[in-house]
Amino acid sequence: MSDMAADAFLRMKRVELLIAILDGFSDQFSCRPVLSQIYSSYGAYIAYQLNKTLNPKLRQIWKTRDWNRKVRVFAKFFESFKQGNLLFNDSKALSIGARVGQEVAALKWVRVSDSVGIDLVPHPPFVVKGDFHTQPFEKETFDFEFSNVFDHALYPWKFVGEIERTLRPVGFVFYSWRYRYGRINILRMICLA
Ligand SMILES: C[S@@+](CC[C@H](N)C(=O)[O-])C[C@H]1O[C@@H](n2cnc3c(N)ncnc32)[C@H](O)[C@@H]1O
Repeated sequence: MSDMAADAFLRMKRVELLIAILDGFSDQFSCRPVLSQIYSSYGAYIAYQLNKTLNPKLRQIWKTRDWNRKVRVFAKFFESFKQGNLLFNDSKALSIGARVGQEVAALKWVRVSDSVGIDLVPHPPFVVKGDFHTQPFEKETFDFEFSNVFDHALYPWKFVGEIERTLRPVGFVFYSWRYRYGRINILRMICLA
């Protein structure tokens, strides 16, 4: 976004732009819906998430066989954001629910070098430990946040609230989640004055 456009937005109290993105990219993701799950407690929810994320065989596959394919897919996606002037080399970017960090590697691949991921399980150097309901970052830290795990939130309002807290006054967030009949992708631009 140009400085002039950013200034114009900042003169307003709050502007939001929502764009539903319906391209063929969504079938490249493979997240399983969990909002429909009923958890007896926060602990039960965390245990459920960790069960898959810590699976040693799967982790090995994510880090080897899956790695190049997913980095390429994510890189193509982030490159399209750069071409749309939504993401820049000097953007500070966060990937939420990044697992072993393929999204972060892809961001770095497209030269958005100040990028990091969070997940319940850390995976250095790409992913730090954190629960996306209480992100471990200061307010107004990121220009861009990517999440294809909205359907994994136990408290969706906290998930969104934390993104709003940690985004800079003019920031972009990409949400994607799977529901019963497919996947919804939303690009949201938030401008807070
Ligand atoms: C289906 S995977 C998606 C991984 C990655 N984004 C991808 O597309 O390859 C969901 C990830 O969200 C993480 N996750 C689930 N609940 C979380 C929470 N409360 N805070 C942070 N990460 C969470 C899981 O550990 C898991 O790595």
